[in-house]
Amino acid sequence: MNCIKHIADDLLWVGANDRRLLIFEGVYSVPDGVSYNSYLMLDKKTVLFDTVDKAVRDIFLENVEAGLEGRNLDYLILHHIEPDHSAGVSTLLLKYPDVTIVVNEKSSVLLDQFFNVPASVKRLVVKEGDSLSVGKHKLNFVMAPMIHWPEVMMTYESTDRILFSADAFGTFGALNGAIFADEVDFAKDYMDEARRYYTNIVGKYGQQVQTLFKKAESLTIDMICPLHGFVWRKYINEVMRPYINWSRYEPEEQGVMIAYASVYGNTENAAEILACRLRDAKIKTVMYDVSVTPASNIVAACFRWSHLVFASPTYNAGIFVTMEALIYDLVAHNIQNRTIAFIENGSWATASGKLMRSKLESCKNMTFLDTISLTSSVSADKQQELCKLAKTIADTCVLKKTDDLGHTGMNADALWKVPYGLFLVTSQDGDFDNGCIINTAEQITALPVRMTVSIDKTSLTHDMVLKTKKLAVSVLTKAAPYYLFQHFGFNSGKDINKFDLNENSPLYGRFTRLSNGLYGLTKYANAIFEGKVISSTDCSRHTLFFIEVDAAHVVSNEPSCTYDYYLDNIKPVPRPPEEGIVGYICKICGYIHEGEELPEDIICPLCKHGAIDFVKL
Ligand code: FEO
Repeated sequence: MNCIKHIADDLLWVGANDRRLLIFEGVYSVPDGVSYNSYLMLDKKTVLFDTVDKAVRDIFLENVEAGLEGRNLDYLILHHIEPDHSAGVSTLLLKYPDVTIVVNEKSSVLLDQFFNVPASVKRLVVKEGDSLSVGKHKLNFVMAPMIHWPEVMMTYESTDRILFSADAFGTFGALNGAIFADEVDFAKDYMDEARRYYTNIVGKYGQQVQTLFKKAESLTIDMICPLHGFVWRKYINEVMRPYINWSRYEPEEQGVMIAYASVYGNTENAAEILACRLRDAKIKTVMYDVSVTPASNIVAACFRWSHLVFASPTYNAGIFVTMEALIYDLVAHNIQNRTIAFIENGSWATASGKLMRSKLESCKNMTFLDTISLTSSVSADKQQELCKLAKTIADTCVLKKTDDLGHTGMNADALWKVPYGLFLVTSQDGDFDNGCIINTAEQITALPVRMTVSIDKTSLTHDMVLKTKKLAVSVLTKAAPYYLFQHFGFNSGKDINKFDLNENSPLYGRFTRLSNGLYGLTKYANAIFEGKVISSTDCSRHTLFFIEVDAAHVVSNEPSCTYDYYLDNIKPVPRPPEEGIVGYICKICGYIHEGEELPEDIICPLCKHGAIDFVKL
């Protein structure tokens, strides 16, 4: 029986899961299975985006037939010819011989190489920038070579702003009923597999991924539909952040990955001693026995951590076999920008350290620390050398060192000492007005009058300012009611029209049209600035806009509202949590996330603050 999911207007997921597969692509263990995603668009024309692996072809065909509800299939878009996504083509053609296959020049060649598609089958060959209108939806083709194969392309659907991203943003692991990443605890349960998938499948091609991100900068994306794993409909900017990191080969975290091979336990002993001394120095560590842990897991860990230690016996006058394979794999995946140390062992003619180093020297921007050379087992003086190495590594780990006040790393409380104000930023796109609350707006020059304004990228106001390059900033006063912060701060313009106010609203009649056509706040504000964006800088979760001020108005002489004043006098005191609740409370708005663990990427659903503003109950 068919098993399909509705994921957006006119769009169905018609893919399937394989939990019996042990090894994906003949290399990667998939203990939690894998999903093969295919999507069916039902517009004036019907469009199927990719097929599936042969292992799940039957249920896929049933899904397509059920999704079409008797209609014919007009287009089959093939983003990637690797057979885990195209093995369904031949069988599909038997059922829908009139379909037009949409490919690019390279994928057309590969399609014939793999499946020998009959010449009678209609084929539409597209290139970068081409588009196809299928009714309400317009499909724009974006070439994405080497993500993962040279023929890969993506489709950007510009009506509902959906990116069909091929292998990009995919993850290992079958879908267990949930199709959207926000239906699960992705950071806790799937991030490791997303990293393992990316680093092993696409890790080598960081430059090409960077090129793709440059193309994506000009697109507004509301949903990402990859070929494996979850569909993303929220936190799109947050989703991209680790991929940007990985593609630049920048470590995610300061800490040490120790990979060791050991025949009789002596090299392992040295690795254990080093790990203990590193932990004594408050440095995070992970350890892998390369003869036990699959290389793909260790490759992923090497992309995660800043420092790598490789420990290997000398074996047949070379590197131990499993370690040699790992290092070969790492070099092949283009690992860069790491600090590296080695432990070698040998009872005679010790050589593994020098050989490991010579292989990794071909990688870019590596910093090499000491190589500790053991003779059969760890002697007292070698134990001292391991302690010294731990100290050297700790000294080169940034952020995690203990300061003179006895603190380690980043003390988030320091950020609460920075003074902030509170402002309403308004924008307009066509006939649609919108606005949001921000806490960072600063005057930076007087002649000409220029300001900076920082806006959260997840807000619609951000996108509108980015697009229209126009905004107004109302400076809020101490008289501003909590309702104003709730209305403009906790709602999204993606869900409601914030200026559709009825007469009973406390904000009704409190706005005026400014000379640039935008709304300014005339009550609960003491000044309004109208301006245009002259430049902007990507600042991770926010964009910093540089504004040239065209007009400035004084509205009242009420004192400005600082963030401290808001917290102490305007924001209601959060209701105390019920006894026995295990979880974390948002310091900003009192929202409680229940559970033992706080997801690293949590965004408070009420006030949109991140994990740094949550404290354990
Ligand atoms: Fe999922 Fe590159 O195929």
